[in-house]
Amino acid sequence: MDELILTQPDDWHIHLRDGAALTAVAPHSADVFGRVMAMPNLKPPVTTVSAAQAYRQRILGALPPNTSCIPLLSLYLTESTTVAEVEAAAHSGFIVGFKYYPMGATTHSELGVSDLSRCREVLHAMAKSGLPLQVHGEVTDPAVDVFDREAVFIHRQLIPLLESHPDLRVIFEHITTRAAVEFIQGAGAGVAATITPQHLLYNRNALFQGGLRPHHYCLPVLKREEHRQALLHAVASGHPRFFLGTDSAPHSQSTKEASCGCAGIYSAHAALPLYAEAFESVGALSLLEGFASHFGADFYGLPRNQHRIRLIRQSWTVPPHYPFGSETLIPLRANETLAWKVVQI
Ligand code: DOR
Ligand code: ZN
Repeated sequence: MDELILTQPDDWHIHLRDGAALTAVAPHSADVFGRVMAMPNLKPPVTTVSAAQAYRQRILGALPPNTSCIPLLSLYLTESTTVAEVEAAAHSGFIVGFKYYPMGATTHSELGVSDLSRCREVLHAMAKSGLPLQVHGEVTDPAVDVFDREAVFIHRQLIPLLESHPDLRVIFEHITTRAAVEFIQGAGAGVAATITPQHLLYNRNALFQGGLRPHHYCLPVLKREEHRQALLHAVASGHPRFFLGTDSAPHSQSTKEASCGCAGIYSAHAALPLYAEAFESVGALSLLEGFASHFGADFYGLPRNQHRIRLIRQSWTVPPHYPFGSETLIPLRANETLAWKVVQI
């Protein structure tokens, strides 16, 4: 297969940032995706409908002039989020979920939730309105090994959460382990997961290939090969509750290549080619469209996109860096060749 025509895909998990960084990265996603779900972990985080409205305007301002790409937003859940805010979000028309960051789990999660039981009424309101909870599924307990944080999260938090809120719709974001795959396969129709390109393409050896590789560092961190295989099998099974969310997370070169480097992999410049490579590696290219373009929209209860995009087998070389405000951004696969390319229809 040398050409794929797909319903236009959506990115259900992306960090677009703000200001000059937003201006630098937004066009990469707008060129390909029909909708982008912008994560709210700005500084300060996007916790209210009015802040989200303002952020949405800034995103719209950063998109290319004749784009059809629509930004959707997620609100950052805090222990002060009110039921009234949930109701306002449900009526906003552009906020389609709340993001749960366990406090301290990742970039800008300082204002996240330390005890989810303090959000009981808010979660109840979300279940009632149908707004899903988008979960960063890692425990922050320092006693838990960093590679086990997702698996432990399932038992300590996710199972109890769904027991107390059986009607809450949950998206287990950027899953990385066999345990998470099996959890989704065994869960009800209201529970889904997003999967990033890096977790389909790399195992944790990529962090140490000939030296420390900061541009392969993200959270949740890359895992062992057996977990990558479990993720590949999940997407190659065509299961409708695994769908695309790049978690493309740009940080400047200087903050990545530092003694305490930031977590985040930038993949928006090549998202579809990277996913195509992963699907092709397991002979599942024909299942890419469901994962990239159908299942996410179906889960969020939104219409599938009308436009189509074309992917062709044509090699191209990823630039060594992109401008990023006054700094530079090192993309995934910098200076390397990709086999697939998105072209205009
Ligand atoms: O690697 C990551 N980067 N994981 C996250 O959860 C957050 C993200 C970011 O915002 O940089
Ligand atoms: Zn993320």
